[in-house]
Amino acid sequence: MADPLPAMTISAISRQARRQLAAAGVETPEIDARILVGHALGLSRAGLIAEASRAVSDTEADAIARLVARRAGGEPVGRILGRREFWGLEFRLGPDTLEPRPDTETVVEAALDAVAGKPEPLRILDLGTGTGCLLIALLSELPTAWGLGVDISAGALGTALSNAVALGVSARAAFAVADWTQPLAGGGRESAFGLIVANPPYIATSACRSLQWDVADWDPDRALDGGADGLEAYRAIFSDIGRLLSADGVLVVEVGHDQAAAVERLAAGHGLPCRSVRRDLGGIERALVFSPMQ
Ligand SMILES: C[S@@+](CC[C@H](N)C(=O)[O-])C[C@H]1O[C@@H](n2cnc3c(N)ncnc32)[C@H](O)[C@@H]1O
Repeated sequence: MADPLPAMTISAISRQARRQLAAAGVETPEIDARILVGHALGLSRAGLIAEASRAVSDTEADAIARLVARRAGGEPVGRILGRREFWGLEFRLGPDTLEPRPDTETVVEAALDAVAGKPEPLRILDLGTGTGCLLIALLSELPTAWGLGVDISAGALGTALSNAVALGVSARAAFAVADWTQPLAGGGRESAFGLIVANPPYIATSACRSLQWDVADWDPDRALDGGADGLEAYRAIFSDIGRLLSADGVLVVEVGHDQAAAVERLAAGHGLPCRSVRRDLGGIERALVFSPMQ
């Protein structure tokens, strides 16, 4: 009888995973293989290096093979892990939430700059909160602020609430189902919001169909589809924002790579001049900051 094959080491199975992912057309095979092997073995990056020559068991090899097959089939790493880092915080994902993107951190940066020096405590409204990543990142930076996250998806709000609890801000956060601003009571000066943020769906319906395989198949449609020209959510938000934004408040929205000028024009038509534009790490105009005409 032939001797059984020697078990693979962690370093060998990682190389194999990397080759499989590269062959499947995954853009970042090395990083993805490391994360997936680490996830299956419960090891950090340092742990993978320290234990590189340890043999993996059959059970571990099977677990790694299953994860690698999912990634090779197009499922994003964040979906496989069920979590994604944003603003240095770990967010749980759900089937009804968008996976937060690094570009969206530009909205947090722009918002923090825009509210610096404003009177506290700040009241924040996050429209289309998804995982709650914008609201929770802002609350983690502004310890006296309070915030409301709304979304049309009740499932997304359940995930946002669990993230707020896990990240220690739930005492200052509330979540509600809403079609943008519709059910929210307008306020006088005291009850209006000093900061409103939104990363609405902004991809034109026709373009949604040609999205990269690991976007269209895994993020929910209503987190992506911005209607015929991609701008429907902005129209809905701008048309009603006046009664919710305090007189010295700011609205910060994320826009698609070629939408800054069109969104600026729409907002100006509702008495909201654009005060500044912030570019993302790729140099794209990504976050627009508006405040009411004085
Ligand atoms: C692009 S995702 C942004 C999610 C999250 N804020 C982020 O930045 O990762 C847009 C979000 O808007 C929500 N949404 C879509 N239509 C909506 C509507 N009419 N009213 C409220 N929320 C809506 C979606 O469910 C989704 O969570």
